[in-house]
Amino acid sequence: MTEILAIYPGSFDPTTNGHLDLIERGSQLFHRLIVAVLTNLEKNPLFTVAERVEMLREATRAIPNVSVDTFSGLLVDYARQKQAKALLRGIRAFTDYEYELQMALTNRKLSPDVETVFLMPALAYTYVSSRLVREIFQLGGSVTGMVPALVEERLHQKIYQGRT
Ligand code: PNS
Repeated sequence: MTEILAIYPGSFDPTTNGHLDLIERGSQLFHRLIVAVLTNLEKNPLFTVAERVEMLREATRAIPNVSVDTFSGLLVDYARQKQAKALLRGIRAFTDYEYELQMALTNRKLSPDVETVFLMPALAYTYVSSRLVREIFQLGGSVTGMVPALVEERLHQKIYQGRT
């Protein structure tokens, strides 16, 4: 049987426990999973692409069939270059659906050979988003339980960096 490689694309600014949950589920479904960080992100990210990649690598170190990479430009071009058969995305709540449907159908129009596969994260993480994590952090709140411990540590380091 041919190996099925999937790509899990995103901004991952920062990685949440919801992302990790999805990576674990995806790693059990596909032979190989590449977590791909988009490099041409909005102007004011919290973490640099290098920091995000490093955190993702650390957080997924124990999963042998998962690797972390970056991409720019069209996702379908990157998928073609990697010979990926599937794109993995998570759907948390109904509010994600419209955006995800639009992306999946656009990607299908651009590249009919690559299929988008949606997975739901564990119920406990359905409310967690990178955007809210950034907001809570920037307003001085606790993000314990929403992000891996190593991401929380990095967030604390950012506060100290900001003070120097
Ligand atoms: O985690 P995010 O920010 O919701 O991820 C969005 C992402 C990176 C999957 C999406 O913006 C993307 O694929 N961008 C690459 C550009 C592209 O291919 N656009 C056309 C298809 S929608």
